[in-house]
Amino acid sequence: MHQWNPLGPALWTIVTFSGRPGCWGTSTNLTNIFKMRMLKNLIVRIFRYLFVYCSIAIDLWDIYVHSILSIFLFVRPLPYIKTERSAILITGVSSGIGRYLAHQFAYRGYTVFGTVRNAKDAQKFESDISDLKTKGGKAYGHLHAVVMDVTDKEQCRAAVNSIEARLKRDDLHLHALINNAGFFADVPIALSTDEFKEKMMDINFHGPARLVQLFLPLLTKVKGSRIVNIGSVASFVSGPLLGVYGASKAALRSYSEALNIEYAKLGVSVSHINTGSIDTRMMNQWKDRKPLSQSPYTNVDENDSDTPLYKDMQQLTDQARDMVEYSSGLLYQSEQASCRRVERRLKGSWPLPHYYAGFDSKILRTLCSIMPDNLRVTLTGRQHK
Ligand SMILES: NC(=O)c1ccc[n+]([C@@H]2O[C@H](COP(=O)([O-])OP(=O)(O)OC[C@H]3O[C@@H](n4cnc5c(N)ncnc54)[C@H](OP(=O)(O)O)[C@@H]3O)[C@@H](O)[C@H]2O)c1
Repeated sequence: MHQWNPLGPALWTIVTFSGRPGCWGTSTNLTNIFKMRMLKNLIVRIFRYLFVYCSIAIDLWDIYVHSILSIFLFVRPLPYIKTERSAILITGVSSGIGRYLAHQFAYRGYTVFGTVRNAKDAQKFESDISDLKTKGGKAYGHLHAVVMDVTDKEQCRAAVNSIEARLKRDDLHLHALINNAGFFADVPIALSTDEFKEKMMDINFHGPARLVQLFLPLLTKVKGSRIVNIGSVASFVSGPLLGVYGASKAALRSYSEALNIEYAKLGVSVSHINTGSIDTRMMNQWKDRKPLSQSPYTNVDENDSDTPLYKDMQQLTDQARDMVEYSSGLLYQSEQASCRRVERRLKGSWPLPHYYAGFDSKILRTLCSIMPDNLRVTLTGRQHK
């Protein structure tokens, strides 16, 4: 098999510098190893700064051009909504971005309803507020757990009723719905099961699509309420093993854009966050090195491991996992990167339909808009037999 990738040397340099052990020769001289480590750290740092400054420039361009255009086009700003009487619903707060967002908004005084899938996570989530108060002493808001699986229609309806009752009781209004709950698994399309594809679409697309309809009556009670859909860079640039996940996120991206226009009439603004690589449980799944025959989402078992299709797909999977693992030191960012975008989205007067969270997301978006499609697909690692 011949693999052609014109960006090979450049990518290899970045990937190597970003943390691959053993790429620095076999020198046993400690001083040399120390110098190499310093050099490696320096280069990772230079690349990160470079990426961050590029992404700031892209951000400024996006925000200022959009705001200036909004003024010239006489787009009316959204009304300012006070934090104290506002509640926010975030799905999937048991870990990662959802949990981080819930904490940040509780700090700022919002009442946060967070959805989890079991009683244990519910208890843990609600007890977080006392931890926040002990640590920071500045958590003014409240955290309420709601048990809900986004794929379960009955639970979603029950959640609307329980949240509505709670809002009435505490004299609050629902300021925002943040569709964050999501699912990811790295499975090559050729070996994926139908159940896997259905599960992916159910959680990443049908779930949010259902919630934006069910919660609409609560959101329209005040003008200027917002919906934020947490999407992914995979919605506009795909790659090996990202096919099914990317398809579900691309559906959400397209849906968000249409909603943005339809719901504007109702006083609800809708944004989509194209999230880059954030260091959470989801991204760490790439490190799981189980063979494809052991994945619950493939239609193969150990007996198939000698077939050419299996071997090719396993090789592709290993290459992709290597690539992610080696570049994680350079690309993975903290949850803060995504939180800043969501916060801006909830407070801003002229919210954008799309935000790009993380420097990799902004740089990829800019590259995709200037690069011919054929070149982009080839650079993503096309294989030639
Ligand atoms: N991390 C990244 O680099 C990255 C990049 C692009 C986009 N995103 C998106 O960001 C969002 C959050 O991901 P994360 O990185 O924070 O991952 P995470 O730590 O794995 O969190 C995922 C959350 O979604 C919940 N969830 C999964 N299936 C659910 C279902 N059927 N019903 C209700 N909740 C469900 C999980 O609950 P359980 O604990 O019960 O499973 C968990 O709370 C996802 O939409 C993801 O696609 C993340």
